[in-house]
Amino acid sequence: VSGADFAIVEERARAARERSMAVVVVQGLGFVGAVMSAVVAAARGAQGEPRYFVVGVDLAAAADKVRAVNEGRPPVPSADPQVAAYLQRAVNDTRSLVATCDPRAYGLADVIVVDVNFDIGGLDAFKRAIQDIGEHMSANALVLIETTVPPGTTREVVLPMLRAAFAARGLGGEPLIAHSYERVTPGRNYVASVERFWRSYAAESEEAERRARNFLASVIRTDAFPLRRLESTVASELAKVLENSYRAVNIALIHEWTLAAEDLGVNLFDIVDSIAVRRGTHDNIRKPGFGVGGYCLTKDSHLAQWGIASFFGSDVRLSLTLSALEVNERMPEHTFDLLAAALGELRGLEILVAGVSYLHDVADTRNSPTATFCTLVEQAGATPLVHDPLVQEWPERPHVARVSLDEGVARAHAIVVAVRHQAFLELDPRRLAGPRVRCVVDTQDILPDAKAAALHAAGIHPVGVGKGHWKARFAKTARP
Ligand SMILES: NC(=O)c1ccc[n+]([C@@H]2O[C@H](COP(=O)([O-])OP(=O)(O)OC[C@H]3O[C@@H](n4cnc5c(N)ncnc54)[C@H](O)[C@@H]3O)[C@@H](O)[C@H]2O)c1
Repeated sequence: VSGADFAIVEERARAARERSMAVVVVQGLGFVGAVMSAVVAAARGAQGEPRYFVVGVDLAAAADKVRAVNEGRPPVPSADPQVAAYLQRAVNDTRSLVATCDPRAYGLADVIVVDVNFDIGGLDAFKRAIQDIGEHMSANALVLIETTVPPGTTREVVLPMLRAAFAARGLGGEPLIAHSYERVTPGRNYVASVERFWRSYAAESEEAERRARNFLASVIRTDAFPLRRLESTVASELAKVLENSYRAVNIALIHEWTLAAEDLGVNLFDIVDSIAVRRGTHDNIRKPGFGVGGYCLTKDSHLAQWGIASFFGSDVRLSLTLSALEVNERMPEHTFDLLAAALGELRGLEILVAGVSYLHDVADTRNSPTATFCTLVEQAGATPLVHDPLVQEWPERPHVARVSLDEGVARAHAIVVAVRHQAFLELDPRRLAGPRVRCVVDTQDILPDAKAAALHAAGIHPVGVGKGHWKARFAKTARP
C-alpha cells in the first residue's frame, strides 16, 4: 500500500482527538503542501505538545509522494535540510503526520488546506479537487484555499460548489471558506519561507475569518510576521497574482535594457548596483539573466487575466504584464544568439549548460529556461550536455545527457553558465578551461572581470549577458 489505509488514518485521527489535538487535512503534497503539512505538524500547544494531527492527501497518480511522506522523506526536491528534519520528526517522533490517497480523509478534518495546483486552463481539475472535499467534509470544517487561483475563484467556484455539496448531503449551515496565498520559496530557507513569513488572508464570512486567523496564528510565527487581513477573497487572490506579475515585469524590463547595454558596450550589472543604492525605491532592481522558469511566474499573470475576464466580465487587458511574460519566455533566445555569434556554426558541436533548475540553489526544474535553451541548441544541430549539482533527475528532458562538470568541460566546445548556484560562484575559472572549449557564456555574473581575463588568457572567449564592456576587452580567440 502506498498510502496509509483509511481505517488506520481514521483510528489515528480519533486517538489524536482524544489527546485534544485538532485534525488538519492538507490536499496536495507538492512543493507547497508537503512543507505546509510538515509545518502544521510541528505546531505546538501551550505545554509543547503537538497541536495538530495532520493528514496529507494526494491523488493515486501521485502515490510516490504519499509514500515518501509516510517514510518521512521529502516528496519533492529540497535544498533545505529542515524539510527532511521536519518530516522525519512529524512522522516518526511525534507521529503527528500521515499521508493517504483516500479522499474520505477530508471527513476527519477541522481544517482543510487546499494546496493543489491550478494550471492554465486547469479549472476542471481544480473543481474535481473541491468536489472531493465537498463530498466528505464535515459541515463545520474550515476550508482554507492556498492555491494560486484566478481572482474570483473562491467566491464564484468554491463557495457555490461547497454549498451545492452541503445541500446534496443534507448538511445545514454555510461552508466556512477562506483564502490565504502561499509565498513559499523552495530554496535553502524552504521551511522558514512558510513558518516565518508574512501572510495575507481573507474569508467569505466573519466566522471563517476568525477560524482562518486562529489557525494561521497557531502554525505561523505571526508574532514576528503579523497577519494581514484583506477585505475579500477576491483581494487576497488578486494580491498573489499581482505580486508575481510585479516580479515578472521587473525581470522583463531589465532584459530589454540588457540588450541595449550590450550594444552600448557597458556593464549592466555594475550600472544596476550603482542604481540600487537608492534604498526604498530602487534597491530591488533586477539584474540581467538567462530566463524565467518555475511554476508560478510563468502562469500567474495568465490566471489573473482569465479571472478578470471570466468571473467579472471586465474588458481590462493586462497588456504590459502579459507582454512581459512573452519577453521572459524568449529570454533564453538571447543567450543562444550570443553563443551562436561567438561560435559561428554550431552543427556537430557539444555545448555544456551549467544549471538546469529555474532558480539558484533550488532543484526545481519546472519550466526551466535551460529546457528552452537546449531545444535551440538541438535545433542548430548541436548536442547539449547539462550539469547541475542539485538536480538528480530532469523529468521534462530525460533525453538530454547529464554529465559531471569535469566530463562536460572535457567534452564541450562551449560552456553556458545558466544558473547562479553557489557552487558555480566558487568556481576556479581554470576548471572551465577544457581542451575544446572556445567560449564561456556567463549569464549570471559568476565571472568577475579578473576571472574572465584569466579565461581569455587561456585562449577562451568570455561572453556575458549584460556585459557589454567585455566586447571591446575580450576579442574572439583563435581556438579551432
Ligand atoms: N512552488 C512554489 O514555489 C509555489 C509558491 C507559492 C505558491 N504556489 C502555488 O501553490 C499551489 C501548489 O503549487 P505546488 O508547487 O505545490 O504544485 P505541485 O504540482 O508541486 O503540487 C500539487 C499537488 O496537488 C496534487 N493534487 C492535484 N489534484 C489533487 C486532488 N484532487 N486531490 C489531491 N491532490 C491533488 C498533485 O498531485 C500534486 O502533488 C499552486 O497554486 C502554486 O501556484 C507555489
